[in-house]
Amino acid sequence: MNTQPKIYVACNFPQEVLALFTNQFNAAYNDTGRVLRTDELIDYAQDADAIVLTATDPLDRAAVERLPASVKVVCTYSVGNNHLDLDALQAKGIAVFSTPGVLDEACADAAWLLMLGAARRVIEGIDLVREGTWQGWSPRQLIGREVWGSRLGILGMGRIGRAIGRRARGFDMTVHYHNRNRLSAELESGAQYHASLESLAQESDFLCIACPASPSTQGLINKQILQRLPPNAVVCNISRGDIVCDEDLVQALTTGVVAAAGLDVFAGEPDIHPAYRQLPNVFGLPHIGSSTLRTRLAMGELLCSSLTAHFSGAIPENRIR
Ligand code: DGY
Repeated sequence: MNTQPKIYVACNFPQEVLALFTNQFNAAYNDTGRVLRTDELIDYAQDADAIVLTATDPLDRAAVERLPASVKVVCTYSVGNNHLDLDALQAKGIAVFSTPGVLDEACADAAWLLMLGAARRVIEGIDLVREGTWQGWSPRQLIGREVWGSRLGILGMGRIGRAIGRRARGFDMTVHYHNRNRLSAELESGAQYHASLESLAQESDFLCIACPASPSTQGLINKQILQRLPPNAVVCNISRGDIVCDEDLVQALTTGVVAAAGLDVFAGEPDIHPAYRQLPNVFGLPHIGSSTLRTRLAMGELLCSSLTAHFSGAIPENRIR
């Protein structure tokens, strides 16, 4: 009889990541090739000791209450946890693990991709090349925003925010940030703290959103904040879509209050605000911040090692509840 913990892997993992779980545990997995509905997830998790899911598998209070009694651990293959009702999970005695730390650099790289892509009008440039409408070099063509030497404002100076800030040195940028709490001088590493988001906005030629999503950050980037940005500012979001008020950002992009946006995340993914598909000054990506093989594997390894630790009685560092 197999005495290993039973794991249900709901994520549609690349083979290399799935193998980490199937090699180490008595693992069943989602082989439908699609995201499961909540009722399917609950059905498939019957008798499982742990479930591995991700940001597309929300567990609200009602879903948590319906989880099989066997489930003692929920692992989320993400650093964000706003898709989970953590209080309900805790109340049911279910431990929750996530993947902090291992995806910071990949996400910071992607944040820079967003900043550069939006500032240098990459969408319009690609269209010219691919559609055959390019008429040849012109000094008037696709004049963008210079990244080098500009001011970078980071909303949320956690691990990902700091990794974004480190890269700014190479672009000779001054870094500003707003965070719930001011960081130590060592962690600030020369970045200038702003006690309010309003004050940060005023100094942000590039405003990069890297804070976790929570009820208190919903709609934080709204008309009032966007209007405080300097002329020709660029807004980037590497965190979660609902931190931005879409109607206000679309209006700002349409009227020139904001020059461009680089967005890797959107409210209601994949059914995003339709204007983001049309506006030429939106450089949009399909939520690929952490999507490199090295990071995908590191996220899987972290969850596997925390499951092993948990089932041998230890408390892994990435336990969030
Ligand atoms: C994360 O890790 O939170 C990514 O955004 C994927 O959900």
